[in-house]
Amino acid sequence: MEFSIKSGNPEKLRKDCIVLGVFESRKLSAAAALVDQAANGHISTVLRTGDIDGKPGSSLLLHHVPGIAATRVLLVGLGKERDLNERAYRQAARASIRALAGLNAAEVVTYLAEVAVQQHDLAWRVAQLVEVAQDSTYRFDKFKTKAGDSKKGIAKLQVQVTERADVAAAEAGLKQGLALASGVSFAKDLGNLAPNYCTPTYLAEQALALVKSHGLTVEVLEQAELEKLGMGSFLAVSKGSVQPPKLIVLQHKKGKKSQKPVVLVGKGITFDTGGISLKPGADMDEMKYDMCGAASVLGTFKTIAELGLPLNVVGIIPTCENMPDGNATRPGDVLTSMSGQTIEVLNTDAEGRLILCDALTYAERFEPQAVVDIATLTGACVIALGHHASGLFSNQDNLAQELLQAGNASQDRAWHMPLWDDYQSQLDSNFADMGNIGGRAGGSITAACFLSRFTKKYDWAHLDVAGTAWKSGKDKGATGRPVPLLTEFLKQRAAKSGK
Ligand code: BES
Ligand code: MN
Ligand code: ZN
Repeated sequence: MEFSIKSGNPEKLRKDCIVLGVFESRKLSAAAALVDQAANGHISTVLRTGDIDGKPGSSLLLHHVPGIAATRVLLVGLGKERDLNERAYRQAARASIRALAGLNAAEVVTYLAEVAVQQHDLAWRVAQLVEVAQDSTYRFDKFKTKAGDSKKGIAKLQVQVTERADVAAAEAGLKQGLALASGVSFAKDLGNLAPNYCTPTYLAEQALALVKSHGLTVEVLEQAELEKLGMGSFLAVSKGSVQPPKLIVLQHKKGKKSQKPVVLVGKGITFDTGGISLKPGADMDEMKYDMCGAASVLGTFKTIAELGLPLNVVGIIPTCENMPDGNATRPGDVLTSMSGQTIEVLNTDAEGRLILCDALTYAERFEPQAVVDIATLTGACVIALGHHASGLFSNQDNLAQELLQAGNASQDRAWHMPLWDDYQSQLDSNFADMGNIGGRAGGSITAACFLSRFTKKYDWAHLDVAGTAWKSGKDKGATGRPVPLLTEFLKQRAAKSGK
């Protein structure tokens, strides 16, 4: 989809469709009122039929509205005008794209960015519109041998602003939205890619490709180097696989030289069978998504590189496959992590924390201002929060608040979970410093407690994205989350360090 920004009135635009917002109780947005005037009250008459109630996400398509040059007019509900928040706005934006998806409307003008949204400016509204449009038209058809219905749907979306003076702010929003959409779509592609293609080596190649296209620094540490570093925990997970493990280190250096970096650590299990503690067969294909934490780091790097964000950011991706094999790690094995702490493996399916703990120790060498890890870590988090919120854990309350706010602003939300010491004893082991599981009760919390033992030297937060990184069922596919949250968080950090 191509985007552009223009200013001006709606009635004379010769396009395939004009998108106009209407509020609950038949109130017209400014652009809708202009069209209504030019159409001699036609829009008001239609609203009186009650066929559209103005609820967020509702829509009604009109053809050949009198006095209007465009072929179609799409009315989109925005809810009550004074309640127009991030969620209602995004619902309306999504509804407008969906309503036009199967039609022959290639050139569309949308006026949705003109309406006021609580606490957000025009640039935010345009960015959201762009991101939602790209998100809801995303397809993964790499492996389809027959072409789909590619001619239909929106080819060009013109975002219309009221005043000429608003064009610059809207252009800035467009740039932000496109950069975010590009990172989200990259993360989705990596997640959706079949696990026989998306191996640790493939992820490393994708990171290296960003060096050429986006000017980052990337280093890939191989097995021998990981052995030298003493990453006994990470390497234990990889033992059952023929795919070699990789530790990918990305650096975006656009802040002052003296500025400490923000470090993002992403779980990159390219397939999680559970290992010797084998998972049940049902839906096991979805464990190709167990590298979505890694994908979100790569996606976020793509976005911030495109934005030239003035901040120092390091990305660390431990990536390998968790397979059963004669050489695989056993339940009962004791591992020595890079930190020196020993771990009794009680379940080889709790492998994410085993690769993350060594990556988190490795993060120390960057003297970070903060570390955020992102992982599809526990099924228990899905039970706790469902598919709407990511689980957020932190050893520093201000950092947690920052991430929660970033999630709200980007509508990629997280929920703050406890990390109390009360839970730590569930990790006690008779044979090592700790076990790698803490029992069924509070499973996402004990997983976070495990990680917290490796993050004592810096401010740290953990995002459990097991419920949010992909969708199951008929709409099966990666979501690109939490790239929007992470991008917003980094933008805020950059704004703060600029002052
Ligand atoms: N990758 C899984 C977590 C997962 C499971 C995410 C299902 C999304 C859906 C992780 O490696 C895992 O297997 N965790 C175990 C931990 C348990 C053995 C303590 C789990 O959640 O069952
Ligand atoms: Mn597992
Ligand atoms: Zn896993």
